[in-house]
Amino acid sequence: MPFDKDPDLHRDTLAVRAAVPRTPYGENSEALFLTSGYVQPSAEAAARRFAGDEDGYTYGRYGNPTVSSFEQRLAALEGAEACISTASGMSAILMMCMGLLQSGDHVICSHSMFGSTIKLIGSDLAKFGVQSSFVSQTDVSAWAAAVKPNTKLLFAETPTNPLTDVCDIRALADIAHNAGALLAVDNCFATPALQRPMALGADIVMHSGTKYLDGQGRVMAGALCASQEMVTKTFLPVLKSGGMTLAPFNAWVVLKGLETLEIRMQAQSARALALAQWLQVHPGVARVHYPGLSSHPQHELAMAQQSNCGGAVLSFEVKASDADQARQRAFHVLDSLKTLSLSTNLGDTKTLCAHPASTSHGRLTEAQRQIAGVSQGLIRVAVGLEHITDIQTDLDRGLSSL
Ligand SMILES: Cc1ncc(COP(=O)(O)O)c(C=O)c1O
Repeated sequence: MPFDKDPDLHRDTLAVRAAVPRTPYGENSEALFLTSGYVQPSAEAAARRFAGDEDGYTYGRYGNPTVSSFEQRLAALEGAEACISTASGMSAILMMCMGLLQSGDHVICSHSMFGSTIKLIGSDLAKFGVQSSFVSQTDVSAWAAAVKPNTKLLFAETPTNPLTDVCDIRALADIAHNAGALLAVDNCFATPALQRPMALGADIVMHSGTKYLDGQGRVMAGALCASQEMVTKTFLPVLKSGGMTLAPFNAWVVLKGLETLEIRMQAQSARALALAQWLQVHPGVARVHYPGLSSHPQHELAMAQQSNCGGAVLSFEVKASDADQARQRAFHVLDSLKTLSLSTNLGDTKTLCAHPASTSHGRLTEAQRQIAGVSQGLIRVAVGLEHITDIQTDLDRGLSSL
């Protein structure tokens, strides 16, 4: 029985074992297949494979064994029937929307989602007639009130980037299903190590593999986990014609990243909690956003949904009298860093600090930023594996000299 189908195996085991079968060479570490084409056993077999009537790899844009290993392992961790991977997290969202939506359909998202997601769904897809409503992340009744007869998809990101707002996955799944729509969850921040949206009713789990799944900031990757039918009938045709294929090398890197996901998430989240507690009482800090703090507005929901863990990302606002001073002070804190990285990625073992208002959310209008709560004094910290004292010392350098 393949590892990912064995009901007796635990997630820790699947994280290091789920993959396509070994080759006859018996490699212990999963093989990296760098090939763009496959030799077919016969013309008849090739015809059957291209028609989808027989299993077998045909062409690199359609599939690759290393890519399949990554997909099987991620599906096993998410508790999903199947997974399909893409070149980046954003192309996973594009594949999801191209597969599920057509002109005249309506999507509901939260207005505190990742900036590029807001741009893609709110602006780029609007050009093709897809309608969208952006509602409060945390107000379940606002999601319900936004439902229209043509609503096909609710898309939630929890916790959000960068404010770590948490939404109630089970409640949103009920709203979606009562409306005949689907719920998709961007599980990039919590990862399956902490949160498994499908067990809470979600139909699709979306990932930026660029983040914690890789875990060491090396490659771009994305994925959608869903039912086998949805993957085969709805998303695979988009991949075949759209070509947002995950490169085998990147798939191999992320596949190996999944092996340490659980222990990285636990260790990085422990440091994030300690840092959040320290920032909360720092005189230079106005506010800390971290679901692991009891002061977080959705703390209890986050603990229930995220395996009692706040995750490894927090954000905080520097104290300032107005927006100009706040931006200048946030820049001062970031420019004073010597150990940590000033970088917009997240999910790395190195701690990464960023100014969302001028980077990840820089393409939004000031009005969109304000409604999303992304202020000029906000700094996001994706906590890595450095010693907590060194992380605090590096942030304190700028914070204590404001
Ligand atoms: C929550 C979230 N979703 C999606 C993405 C997009 O992923 P990618 O950069 O791999 O396209 C990001 C990237 O920062 C993100 O933070």
